[in-house]
Amino acid sequence: RKKLNIGLFGFGCVGFGLYEVLQKTPGLKANIKNICVKDKDKKREIGAENFTFNKEDIFNDAEINVIVELIDDADAAYEIVTRALKSGKAVVSANKKMIAEHFEELLALQREYKVPLLYEAACCASMPIIRNLEEYYDNDLLESIQGIVNGSTNYILTKTFKDNLSYEDALKEAQEKGFAESNPILDTGGFDAKYKLLILLAHSFGYIAKPDDLFNIGINNIGGLELKYAREKGLKIKLVAQAFKNLDGSISAFVLPKFVDSEDRLFNVDDVFNGVITKTSFADEQFFVGKGAGAHPTASAVLSDISALSYDYQYEYKKIAQQEDLSLSDDVNLKV
Ligand code: HSE
Repeated sequence: RKKLNIGLFGFGCVGFGLYEVLQKTPGLKANIKNICVKDKDKKREIGAENFTFNKEDIFNDAEINVIVELIDDADAAYEIVTRALKSGKAVVSANKKMIAEHFEELLALQREYKVPLLYEAACCASMPIIRNLEEYYDNDLLESIQGIVNGSTNYILTKTFKDNLSYEDALKEAQEKGFAESNPILDTGGFDAKYKLLILLAHSFGYIAKPDDLFNIGINNIGGLELKYAREKGLKIKLVAQAFKNLDGSISAFVLPKFVDSEDRLFNVDDVFNGVITKTSFADEQFFVGKGAGAHPTASAVLSDISALSYDYQYEYKKIAQQEDLSLSDDVNLKV
């Protein structure tokens, strides 16, 4: 196994989570050599000697062979990641927006420079869904994938429904717990779920789409009326991302809030948990559940990617290689 020297970008909730998780994983030969952060005045949990404010310190350090990118800003993240790949440094990223917006370019760079980019933490945090889609469903092809892929909105829906918390208070709690994006409309508007769905689409069906190609409605317009209806009927409301193959071979993919009944596997996926149901030709349905946000659950996926890089793992993008003439369906099935 390779020894890994990490150059870390960002030291927010997940960055610090990764630091703690690595401290508790002595078996893995991976050490954070330098951490690049932006804000010079921010008080941090560990000593100043661990940080730099100059990204060149990381790019110019020949000993650093892995870049872990855990910053918030998707455009700045794209710059860091492309530069790292071009300079032959492997990358781990948790930035779903950046990956969804630039999937094609990032794939081309990985192929051109033969350097891996792993991003298990970008999709459903602790749930190992990308690796499963990549490796397991090889010949038993997927017919559909659907689920709850955003932790904050599931937390908000659970709290407003079960504990009668107001929408604002539930959102505040999700922010305090480090689940929500710094711009929470990305969560509540269904955009974060859409970015994750775009990543899932590529790894499930081999179809690469752009954020504007997919339809999303979030939970920000759900009010007392919908909650009352759900309570009366014994239902719950879940924000569901789904993609499935139509009979004509096209794919439908969208994010919508949905009433689910107690027979539905997603019914009991509450709080910050995510749940994803895959359906394939032979296996029929399989159900993945795991914490979808938070410092340590997200860091666990980053840790798994770092560990995978120590034995030179890279995605093969098998479904993209297999795909023939796929297209997105023009219809958005709004019958939820
Ligand atoms: N804001 C995201 C969520 C973080 O709530 O799911 C994890 O991707």
